[in-house]
Amino acid sequence: MSKILIKNIKALVQVGEHIPSVIKGKKMGEIPMIESAFLAIEDGEVIAYGSMEDWGGIDDWRDLEVIDADGRFVLPAFCDAHTHTVFARSREEEFVNRIKGLSYQEIAAKGGGILNSARRLQEMDEDELFEKAFARIELLKSYGTGALEIKSGYGLTVDAELKMLRVIKRLKAACGIEIKATFLGAHAFPAEYKENHSAYIELIKNEMLPVIGKEGLADFIDVFCETNYYSVEEMEEILLEGKKYGLIPKVHVNQFTVLGGIRKAVELGALSVDHLEELADDDVLALKGSACMPTFLPSCSHFINIPYGNARLLIENDIPFALASDFNPGTTPSGNLSFVWSLACSKMKLTPEEAFNALTVNAAYAMGLSDTQGKIALGRRSPIMITKQIPSLAYIPYAFGDQLIERMIY
Ligand code: NIG
Ligand code: FE
Repeated sequence: MSKILIKNIKALVQVGEHIPSVIKGKKMGEIPMIESAFLAIEDGEVIAYGSMEDWGGIDDWRDLEVIDADGRFVLPAFCDAHTHTVFARSREEEFVNRIKGLSYQEIAAKGGGILNSARRLQEMDEDELFEKAFARIELLKSYGTGALEIKSGYGLTVDAELKMLRVIKRLKAACGIEIKATFLGAHAFPAEYKENHSAYIELIKNEMLPVIGKEGLADFIDVFCETNYYSVEEMEEILLEGKKYGLIPKVHVNQFTVLGGIRKAVELGALSVDHLEELADDDVLALKGSACMPTFLPSCSHFINIPYGNARLLIENDIPFALASDFNPGTTPSGNLSFVWSLACSKMKLTPEEAFNALTVNAAYAMGLSDTQGKIALGRRSPIMITKQIPSLAYIPYAFGDQLIERMIY
């Protein structure tokens, strides 16, 4: 049995028994906190918390670790609801080409981008892919990530897509945090199917999905719905097939262009629609009142110099949203969610509280983990983070680039 008591916490954040699983509108600006607090955890489960004034002392010291937080904050870990953490190698040469003036789309048209990552991944064996992803996840955990979604989509052949998903399955068992797997066979069209989209879609439907269903290799299904990638009609065909295997849609839309993919995804019961750097009036109408969680990825906007999503417009319309990293070798080589928090504040004009709700409660919803992640409450097992000694919660997004998470408890 392991028991942990954290005392003298400067503020215990996102804590309480009545925090909803979706937070929207004005409520996004509020975070329940207890100042000068304690938190008791037994075998990973929260068994007591409250103000230091109400702390009754300790009866049983056996196997108890006492942490004196002394000026530190305690928060639920971040949830990262959108990543591409399994990949073969980095792509800094494309970064340099963008500095010299090429756009993301121009690099992709020259055989860079997703197809570049797919070539490398096809050549790498499963064990090496696993080792590399495992090491990346250790780093993400040290940055405060306590739950992680990971997509396939750098395979783009039957064998390589299944290889990626098997790696994710192994990571689920090995990493000590909640991991969700998303099948993204429809990330790009392989070069040989450029003129024959339906043949690749048949491969997804007839050769990939049946094995994924049989082996339980994915929780969600994703499609990159975008000009030069998958049309709204192609997305619909693939998502409908995925749903037959119990895979819930969770899609890339509106990164560069507005094609009407948001309305279609909502209609198909998508759990989330992600990117949304571009947002039209009809997209907002489609999202309003739906059960779908729009998810913004500001590190991607930062890195490839595209607009930031209009999260304030969603707040005004009482629509919730999540924030995630999009960690991948092409558009977002960082999975650091404290940096996402900073960008959300400085570039998307969100308050620290609004952004933190989007990184915890709403992000947990966007990966189907509302029951366990994103808040601190009795009986819950959400991983928690202990900060360094900091003056306020806002100091974390303010001091961008600093590593302010001192310790994680899982
Ligand atoms: O979410 N937009 C599509 N997929 C990734 C980028 C993939 C890549 O360039 O490797 C993204 O940004
Ligand atoms: Fe992505």
